[in-house]
Amino acid sequence: MHLNMRLDTVGAYPFDRLRSLLGDVLPPSGIEPIPLSLGEPKHAPPSFLAEVIARESAAWSKYPPMRGSGDARRAIAAWLTRRYSLPKEMVEPETMVIPVSGTREALFMIALAAVPEIKNGKKPVVLMPNPFYQVYMGAATIAGAEPVLVPAGKEDGFLPDFSTLPLEILSRTALAYYCSPANPQGAIASIETMKKLVCLAREHDFLLVSDECYSELYYGSPPAGAAEACAELDGSFQNVAIMNSLSKRSNAPGLRSGFVAGDPELIRKFARLRDYGGAAPPLPLSAGASALWADEEHVIINRRLYAEKYKIAAEILSGKYGYYTPDGGFYLWLNVGDGEKAALRLWRDAGVRVIPGEYLAREIEGSHPGAGYIRLALVHDKDKTAEALTRLVSVL
Ligand SMILES: Cc1ncc(COP(=O)(O)O)c(C=O)c1O
Repeated sequence: MHLNMRLDTVGAYPFDRLRSLLGDVLPPSGIEPIPLSLGEPKHAPPSFLAEVIARESAAWSKYPPMRGSGDARRAIAAWLTRRYSLPKEMVEPETMVIPVSGTREALFMIALAAVPEIKNGKKPVVLMPNPFYQVYMGAATIAGAEPVLVPAGKEDGFLPDFSTLPLEILSRTALAYYCSPANPQGAIASIETMKKLVCLAREHDFLLVSDECYSELYYGSPPAGAAEACAELDGSFQNVAIMNSLSKRSNAPGLRSGFVAGDPELIRKFARLRDYGGAAPPLPLSAGASALWADEEHVIINRRLYAEKYKIAAEILSGKYGYYTPDGGFYLWLNVGDGEKAALRLWRDAGVRVIPGEYLAREIEGSHPGAGYIRLALVHDKDKTAEALTRLVSVL
């Protein structure tokens, strides 16, 4: 069959690669395996989530509107306004917000809305950090763009600097994915960096997609966001789309709930695309999502739990594997020398499942910013986390 060859170019997803690496290898018998490979929060979501969804059950018999419910759009606009102290009228719920069924699908689909056939007469480019959330690469490739990976290794402060790219690349750039707090490194961009990024997007007329799904998990000051940068610049969202999610903020990855907010021109195009291929968030789930966006108490508790786990991690890992407590997110990014070897040993000898950093990045011009690393998601409770890290130290 003549199927889409672009899918062969993107290759296997990192978790498939991990399954192949571990193959038939079993964890030691008699101890509980601890999976730290997937960024799937295990803290409980607030109990009101299930209550609200149950209360709205009459709406299971309705097709949800493709642009999301008005309530959800307003709850998201209100959250953005509060979180980033935006001017009151800056986020218009009707024209600037679309609730989505998790940001994963939206990060993918937005490339289909944003990448033209050609840009300035040439093949369009999609920028992303290296290492990167894998969906960026899939989206860029399937949309027919040339992915350009920008180093975000230790020497780069774990964040990519798109402004240093040659004009030849920037003039072809249709879309740039930026992630702060960064997955996997946990680095946070300053407000000045965010403003420069927005200006760069406007200067070269590309769409900046600011992936902010870890924005509420921070251990110092709250991370700046692209919305805040836009507010400080001129109060417009031109060339900017912000994505955020309830998966990490509210421990509800199974709710599949997030949003895209920003440039109304992009939102119009994206809504058109979604009319044909989008999955609108079901109304009962939208009601649950609105309740979550309106509540901060559970987010504060959640953040505290992660901070406590980083204290435990620092006690166990300080001085080892280049340990540092990240500014945000919930990962550990440890330099263990050989990520694949470490992942295999940790599974076989300690029952701890981690992902090699190599699978989350690509080698570019002889340099591989993920080589030597493993990523651990600190998603379990404190005891399990301490147990996993203690086993890790004893095995490695
Ligand atoms: C950087 C990043 N962006 C986006 C997502 C997608 O989150 P969701 O689809 O649950 O909103 C994830 C999930 O792990 C992520 O790590």
